[in-house]
Amino acid sequence: MPSNAPYDAEEVRRQDIAHHFHPFTDFADFKKTGSMILGEAEGAYLTDSGGKRYLDGIGGLWCVNIGYGREEMAQAIAQQARQMVYYSSFGHHTSVPAAQLAAKLASLAPGPLNHIFYGTGGSMANDTAVRMIHFYFNRLGQPAKKKIITRHDGYHGSSYLTMSLTGVAFDHTGFDLVPGDLIHRVSSPNCYRRPDGMTEAEFLDYLCDEFVQKIEEIGPGNVAAFFAEPVMGAGGVIVPPKGYHSRFAEICREHGILYVADEVVTAFGRLGHFFASESVFGMVPDIITSAKGLTSAYAPLSATILSDEIYDVLSVPQAKGAMFTHGFTYSGHPVCCAAGLKNIEIMEREDICGHVRKVGPYFERRLKTLQDLPLVGDVRGSHFMLCVENVADKTTKELLPPEVSVGKRIAEACQKRGVLVRPIAHLNVLSPPLILTTGEIDRLVDVLREGILEVAGQLTAEGHKLS
Ligand SMILES: Cc1ncc(COP(=O)(O)O)c(C=O)c1O
Repeated sequence: MPSNAPYDAEEVRRQDIAHHFHPFTDFADFKKTGSMILGEAEGAYLTDSGGKRYLDGIGGLWCVNIGYGREEMAQAIAQQARQMVYYSSFGHHTSVPAAQLAAKLASLAPGPLNHIFYGTGGSMANDTAVRMIHFYFNRLGQPAKKKIITRHDGYHGSSYLTMSLTGVAFDHTGFDLVPGDLIHRVSSPNCYRRPDGMTEAEFLDYLCDEFVQKIEEIGPGNVAAFFAEPVMGAGGVIVPPKGYHSRFAEICREHGILYVADEVVTAFGRLGHFFASESVFGMVPDIITSAKGLTSAYAPLSATILSDEIYDVLSVPQAKGAMFTHGFTYSGHPVCCAAGLKNIEIMEREDICGHVRKVGPYFERRLKTLQDLPLVGDVRGSHFMLCVENVADKTTKELLPPEVSVGKRIAEACQKRGVLVRPIAHLNVLSPPLILTTGEIDRLVDVLREGILEVAGQLTAEGHKLS
């Protein structure tokens, strides 16, 4: 931040280290280095406390879809805060934006998904989905139908239950998962690491067989739902083999299992559509969970979007005077819903989905040019959800030892050059605001190339064999 900043950066750094317990943090160096203080943001750029400007290749955390600093968003939020900041949406109260946004989301979501339950984040949206699914099967008189199947490397949140749904083993380290055998897992549809000699089509057959076997092992009468991200995010930006979601949805239907599409990242334009399930993958799930891009992170809001069929079961009174007892103080918070409405208005007016559909393939092509570099084993993803997988050996796909922190070192090399890319273990993930121009994409990719080359040079000098 320039010297006229309205705060003392050193003091903020001290306060932050002493009192701000950061999520997902490596405490090996945090207490020494502290964090980068971000003071301002505009468009696709952030400015740190020293006044240095960065191109944001991360979109905050896959969420600042329309970009930073939108005056219209600030106005919509301020206007709702002034007019009617909050009232509980429990029971028979609502607010104008909560009702209007629900109708808007129902119009954007695939056909029968017409009922919106609000929360304040992706974890809450998925937690809500599990509670509703259990309630649903209880109401249908099938109380044994409770088990959930997820995938290795899927990410569904960080609450107790949703971290248990999550299949990223690294994220479980040192924590407990939900006890018992509520949650079961099948393989990640990771084409890059599929068994040697299998075609993509054979890999899909293999995954389907494994899924059916898993259902039979648990017993279809015990399996309630399958949770899947259309494109896996935090677990490595995994685009499944062609036809995966339709085949899995078919298997679910055949076995009376609900399909939950976790679109916390993929919804609101990241793949070029408001929702990816139907528009990109040609399937209609029973439930969609979303958050992040719903407000482009201007306010915390999530939506669990349910089909008519599920809503019709959930909304029948259990008994005279009985209530549906699930909800949160901030379910349908009017200020957050006003942010959601304005965000969608901006996305439609500027045709941000159209921009992503047009520029996304260019982004993919440009990123793939990194494939000639040492370290780069795979470049994958779709549209504005991309990733580079760094390996020691490009033929065997062998990884570097984790303590090398290759992803982090490349991210640091990019940061030095004014570009933020996200390190996740040995990966570098790109999920920028959806407004990036081709010129900004060029810069992002060029800087990433320089960062990878710098780190590859260092690793070779340190005695690591790269091939
Ligand atoms: C696919 C997916 N689901 C759920 C979540 C959890 O969302 P939140 O962090 O808002 O609770 C995330 C977060 O990154 C996500 O990527």
